[in-house]
Amino acid sequence: MGEIRVALAGIGNCASSLVQGVEYYRDADENSENISGLMHNVLGGYRIRDIKFVAAFDIDKRKIGKDLSEAVFTDPNCTTKFKDVPKLEVEVMKGPVLDGVAETTKDSFLVDQKQLPVDVPKILKKTKAEVLISYLPVGSEQATHYYANACLDAGVGYINAIPVFIASDDAWVKKFEEKGLPCIGDDIKSQVGATIVHRTLTKLFEDRGVKLIKTYQLNVGGNTDFQNMLERHRLKSKKISKTEAVQSQMKDRMLDEDIHIGPSDYIPWLKDNKVCFIRMEGKKFGDIPLTIDLRLSVEDSPNSAGIMVDAIRCCKLALDRKTSGVLKSPSSYFMKHPIEQYSDSEAKTRVDEYIKGTRER
Ligand SMILES: NC(=O)c1ccc[n+]([C@@H]2O[C@H](COP(=O)([O-])OP(=O)(O)OC[C@H]3O[C@@H](n4cnc5c(N)ncnc54)[C@H](O)[C@@H]3O)[C@@H](O)[C@H]2O)c1
Repeated sequence: MGEIRVALAGIGNCASSLVQGVEYYRDADENSENISGLMHNVLGGYRIRDIKFVAAFDIDKRKIGKDLSEAVFTDPNCTTKFKDVPKLEVEVMKGPVLDGVAETTKDSFLVDQKQLPVDVPKILKKTKAEVLISYLPVGSEQATHYYANACLDAGVGYINAIPVFIASDDAWVKKFEEKGLPCIGDDIKSQVGATIVHRTLTKLFEDRGVKLIKTYQLNVGGNTDFQNMLERHRLKSKKISKTEAVQSQMKDRMLDEDIHIGPSDYIPWLKDNKVCFIRMEGKKFGDIPLTIDLRLSVEDSPNSAGIMVDAIRCCKLALDRKTSGVLKSPSSYFMKHPIEQYSDSEAKTRVDEYIKGTRER
């Protein structure tokens, strides 16, 4: 079916796992649909190896100028290396810094103020990028808007992995529609991570008639994503995104004071290991109390890359089919804050229909 030309904004841990993953599955047997770690080996005719990285943007002076294959293993990236990456002939270029660096990450993301940023739309056109993924730090609102506008200028589809609202914001969706471009977002949902586990258990309570009375989800980790989120004011949309992902699974919303979801601390030695603690207090038959206390430990970045390989291919299908605007079904299955929320089983059915072509978006 041809290649999918992908540009990356933010060459952090998530980008590292994605780039490694494309190599890891390069030789996957395309006749098998039961390959460990993948939801789809071949999706709409596209294989993982059809994903080709053509442009990469970051602001850290240690990554700029390096080949993408080397930059993904450069500090402060700390996710597990599970695959060597051969030279990709993609040089990491400097994007505009804007609000990408928090007070808490200024010693982690090292910026050379004298180095000038490139013209991102121009590079996107020159490299014939088709899809851009935003892997910027949480709270980078101006930078997210810059890259979204760059996609609109250059005629590139947009996948927004971060919780700044683009594909769930009517005004931005309209801009993509008007340019005839697809977008998927916002805030990527991991393969099996805190959000989907919490949502699934909430749906289970709902379906089995157990009233959820109080719940929390606390997350700790040691990567720069968690370090960045120490700056609490950057977290506003992340909290909305994560909380709505759970609230949306209930017929009756919980009171705000009875649901608490968010990252709670940065523990450097955990590196890319994220530990999540969920507590759910409910009432079952006869109003008898029921409690779940759950601890989930995951390597954070490969967990999102496993979803991104499908999001990229769904975005490419939209380009092939000339579908523009927000891709509602892929967004609802792959993202925490889609424009329309469904249960994960319903969202999966919708994505399968979208891939087959029986559902437009
Ligand atoms: N790991 C997951 O499963 C997961 C899930 C949901 C959302 N996310 C989100 O994905 C995003 C990326 O996560 P990560 O773990 O790779 O983060 P990271 O901190 O490892 O990487 C962020 C990268 O962005 C770069 N950057 C900062 N400002 C920039 C700018 N203006 N232009 C270009 N690059 C810039 C940094 O130098 C760094 O390399 C975060 O917002 C995170 O919350 C991740």
